[in-house]
Amino acid sequence: MENLLTKLDAYKKEIASTPVADAQQLEEFRIKWLGTKGLVKAIMGEMKTVAPELKKEAGQALNEFKIFAETTYETLKEAAGGAASSSTARIDLSLPGDEMPLGSRHPVVLMKNRIVSIFQRLGFAVAEGPEIEDDWHNFGALNLPEHHPARDMQDTFYVQQNPDWVLRTHTSSVQIREMEKGKLPIRMLMPGRVYRNETVSARSHCFFHQVEGLYIDEHVSFADLKQTLYFFVKEMYGKDVKVRFRPSYFPFTEPSAEMDVTCFICGGSGCNICKKTGWVEILGCGMVHPNVLSNCNIDPGKYTGFAFGMGIERPAMLKYGVNDLRLFSENDVRFLKQFTSAI
Ligand code: DAH
Repeated sequence: MENLLTKLDAYKKEIASTPVADAQQLEEFRIKWLGTKGLVKAIMGEMKTVAPELKKEAGQALNEFKIFAETTYETLKEAAGGAASSSTARIDLSLPGDEMPLGSRHPVVLMKNRIVSIFQRLGFAVAEGPEIEDDWHNFGALNLPEHHPARDMQDTFYVQQNPDWVLRTHTSSVQIREMEKGKLPIRMLMPGRVYRNETVSARSHCFFHQVEGLYIDEHVSFADLKQTLYFFVKEMYGKDVKVRFRPSYFPFTEPSAEMDVTCFICGGSGCNICKKTGWVEILGCGMVHPNVLSNCNIDPGKYTGFAFGMGIERPAMLKYGVNDLRLFSENDVRFLKQFTSAI
């Protein structure tokens, strides 16, 4: 018993004089004294050897020693600055908090989401397809057979490893993939990135984004197409915006049209955005060509449909006042940060 008390005294002195200057020494202290193989635990084990009539006194001494070791550790820990977890007293609630860095959506994504959410209200579901496409889905099935002159409308990137592969030039390829599934009716919206071999400048880029729309069922008419697009334009640009359809040509639609809206910058009076015409072209559209339906094993005698395709960058530039297309793909945070609160 005498032995034990002397030992405890010596330990206490050692603890009191242990220098702890940093986190590593603090941890060494903890391991030496309070760890699972530490001296506190070891000496507690000596209780077994104490004679029964002395157990009470020994127990008290041991307990006191244990508390001494633990409180010394806590004090050292606070002094070392790592006390946050054990002592709430150290937290100053009046200090300003750390700023949470806020991410932002990309303006192209913001515009895509706006477009998608409008058509979703008309029951259009969203589908995506591959960006590396085979010739059939990008051209052939869309009524653009090999050597068709309209292939020149889109400057194509070919994939070196396989002459049959292209970087898709439009999202119309996803139409084909949806029709091939053979599930009718189809009411789909297909957003995605497309590629064209064009010189990069403020007004054109070698990749950009489109949203494709497709509706196939029995008795779908051009009137349905117009009504659907009227709804879209009103939701997107406001009810005062006027719309006009111009006859156009796309191999995959017949008849085909391009749709203009009154310039949302000048309201139709003429500015440099609309090149003084008062109108801005926003999409191409038409009734799905019977050959395209047949190519996808859909009976053109029974089913009809309409399709449309629009770019995303141009409306995004107009909406957010962006004057250079390259900003969208340069990932300059000073540009991207400006959309933190945009919806
Ligand atoms: N694929 C056309 C383009 O990239 C856009 C387009 C026009 C899509 C008419 C269509 C459509 O679905 O019917 O220029």
